[in-house]
Amino acid sequence: MKLDNTDQLKKMNLIDAGLVSMQLMLAARAHGYDTNPTGRFEKAEIAQTFGLDKDRYYPVMLISVGKAANQGYQSVRQPVDQITEWQ
Ligand SMILES: Cc1cc2nc3c(=O)[nH]c(=O)nc-3n(C[C@H](O)[C@H](O)[C@H](O)COP(=O)(O)O)c2cc1C
Repeated sequence: MKLDNTDQLKKMNLIDAGLVSMQLMLAARAHGYDTNPTGRFEKAEIAQTFGLDKDRYYPVMLISVGKAANQGYQSVRQPVDQITEWQ
């Protein structure tokens, strides 16, 4: 499939970024690190802060990685069988 416009590319990048983000978080966990995803940050300034080319990179997710200062807590998620359908 040929992606020939910016909107299509951006949508594809969002899908890829989601997959990469989750994978990075799982890999960090497997190596004993904790992570926290953040979707709301200063997107216009992030490239400059990290010395990136803002015309090349589209900021999607900020993921902090480190050793947790405190133990994590149990949070609530919908049961898998209520939100998925297997066919
Ligand atoms: C993709 C994504 C983006 C998030 N962005 C933010 C954010 O911008 N600001 C914020 O306070 N929390 C944000 N969160 C939530 C925190 O990371 C939250 O601590 C984490 O999801 C654990 O929450 P839980 O208690 O629902 O398990 C985001 C979570 C996800 C998965």
